[in-house]
Amino acid sequence: MKPIPQDMHAWLLHGYGGPEAMRFQEMAVPQPGPGDLLLRVEVASVNPVDWKIRQGILQGVLALALPRVLGRDCVGIVARAGTDCRGFEPGDRLLAVADPMRDGTHAEYAVVPCAQSARVPPGLAAADAACLGIAGLSAYIPLVEIAALDKGRRVLIHAGAGGVGSIAIQIAKHLGAEVWTTCGGANMDFCAALGADRVIDYTSERFEQALRDCDVVFDTVGGEVHRRSFGVLRPGGLLVHLSAAPIDPVPPRGDVRVVRADIRASNARLAALLDWAAAGVIRAQPGEVFALAQAQQAYRLSASGHARGKLLLSA
Ligand SMILES: NC(=O)c1ccc[n+]([C@@H]2O[C@H](COP(=O)([O-])OP(=O)(O)OC[C@H]3O[C@@H](n4cnc5c(N)ncnc54)[C@H](OP(=O)(O)O)[C@@H]3O)[C@@H](O)[C@H]2O)c1
Repeated sequence: MKPIPQDMHAWLLHGYGGPEAMRFQEMAVPQPGPGDLLLRVEVASVNPVDWKIRQGILQGVLALALPRVLGRDCVGIVARAGTDCRGFEPGDRLLAVADPMRDGTHAEYAVVPCAQSARVPPGLAAADAACLGIAGLSAYIPLVEIAALDKGRRVLIHAGAGGVGSIAIQIAKHLGAEVWTTCGGANMDFCAALGADRVIDYTSERFEQALRDCDVVFDTVGGEVHRRSFGVLRPGGLLVHLSAAPIDPVPPRGDVRVVRADIRASNARLAALLDWAAAGVIRAQPGEVFALAQAQQAYRLSASGHARGKLLLSA
């Protein structure tokens, strides 16, 4: 085990804004409280929520005290366990999601709740496991728990080439669904290789003209895509979405169910995703990997809306 240093580097958000609002600086390594683990971060993922927090877009829903370390999840080695963390030992490699109201994971060390951590199975690479935190949960909860997808159901997954979509396609296929997905032309082969039965290039084809009678639409895009998605659902179908703003408060159809997925980490959910990855049921899709010190570049790519697979930071 490496000795724990006193200080570390971390990306701190001092005020809301562009790349200049985040600073890579030294700070004290945090101490885990009861129910917490201190992880030496190996790989952290970059999610759209990171740049949305930095820009101040989420101030209405996440009232954060600044300065605050950015980043929502990571794979890391337990450096120290707080009290009440039975089952976790120093040296364990974990996938963990940080408490959204506390310091995050874009740092050399991070404190995470043990209730939001799960052991990475031997043989699963840290970078692969790191694709399954926020992005994995954001595919798992809508499709497995809310839609309860099963054999023969027709599902449309928007943005199949993204961090969430690339896992969602594979989960839906594993559950036996007929999977349609949308992406740009350059990502069609990528989505087909993940198992999608039909891939729609949203830049050249309107999805509502290509398919109908969907049991489920999983909307990760929102806005106009959200509105148009109602047109492809069968009566009684389900539109499950992550962050579809701006959306109309009253859905245009009364004969379908609309659910906003609440993405919360738990041991069981993370363990289920990791087990599927270890068994080869889902293949993690690491995209570009940046050094921790280059996080601003990763945030820029995420904000472009056209990252493929999961953006990662390697500590
Ligand atoms: N509420 C929550 O807790 C929660 C959790 C996770 C994610 N989210 C939200 O869900 C969204 C997706 O997350 P993510 O991590 O998957 O993002 P991401 O990895 O950044 O997604 C990028 C992908 O979106 C695709 N895309 C962009 N516009 C599209 C369109 N009009 N139609 C189809 N595909 C399109 C791009 O494909 P092309 O390059 O081929 O265009 C790209 O591959 C984000 O807005 C994120 O904030 C919310």
